[in-house]
Amino acid sequence: MKKLIYAGLLLLVISPMVNLSCTHEPLSKLDPAGGIIELPGNTGRSCSPDSVYFANDIYPLMQSTCAMGGCHDNITREEGVDLTTYANIAKHVIPGNALRSELYKEIIRTDKDRMPPPPMAPWTTEQINKLKTWINQGAKNNSCDACDTTRFTYAAAIKPIIQTKCQGCHNPGFLGGNIDLSTYQGLKAIAINGKLYGSVTWSNGYSPMPRSMKLPACEIIQIKKWIDNGSLNN
Ligand code: HEC
Repeated sequence: MKKLIYAGLLLLVISPMVNLSCTHEPLSKLDPAGGIIELPGNTGRSCSPDSVYFANDIYPLMQSTCAMGGCHDNITREEGVDLTTYANIAKHVIPGNALRSELYKEIIRTDKDRMPPPPMAPWTTEQINKLKTWINQGAKNNSCDACDTTRFTYAAAIKPIIQTKCQGCHNPGFLGGNIDLSTYQGLKAIAINGKLYGSVTWSNGYSPMPRSMKLPACEIIQIKKWIDNGSLNN
């Protein structure tokens, strides 16, 4: 009986630590292809507004909110779950049935064991709905070309890229590199000091961002044009 109590106490002490370790460990090196077959940007297929695509929407979001170092990457595998590739993510969904899919159930939890765990921000309703639609549409490993280099305003082009691909690791609840990209001001700061362009082009002297999958060339052009145009809140 005493042993059981000790074990219980130990668990109580350890469990908050598990969550904390998730927020502060450096990124692990991932396979640059990330298990993706076709990178969005040169698939030759345009995006249908009614569809949700794995490589465009789901994978980057999972990379920045679930599969980071110390959590569900291929090294830590928290709770035995590795969410770094399509094949591994697919193990936790039932194609066509979001409501019965483990991944969806974890994301919609609102209790203290929710995913991503506090202090990380929960997924937004829009992001949750994307996951739901993607699973209900068959949870396919699909991709399409949405990017247009002639569009490079903050609202139409830049903010959506940052929200899907960066913000999960760069917000007040998870301040990767002490950089907050949840606000325009935060993004502007790294646009001006050169770190934004240096990191997304994986240039020497900068940490490659995102490390798991380089942004499609078209999105890098949009970012460059936006910076060259004064990194405006437009
Ligand atoms: C999986 C989590 C993760 C994602 C996704 C991510 N970052 Fe980071 N980022 C970090 C961490 C952790 C650091 C600090 C350690 C390091 O530099 O590797 C960092 C550092 C940085 C730095 C500082 C680099 C330097 O050389 O000083 C910049 C700039 C940056 N990130 C921008 C971005 C942008 C822009 C995106 C999206 C296109 C992004 N990050 C996506 C976790 C992430």
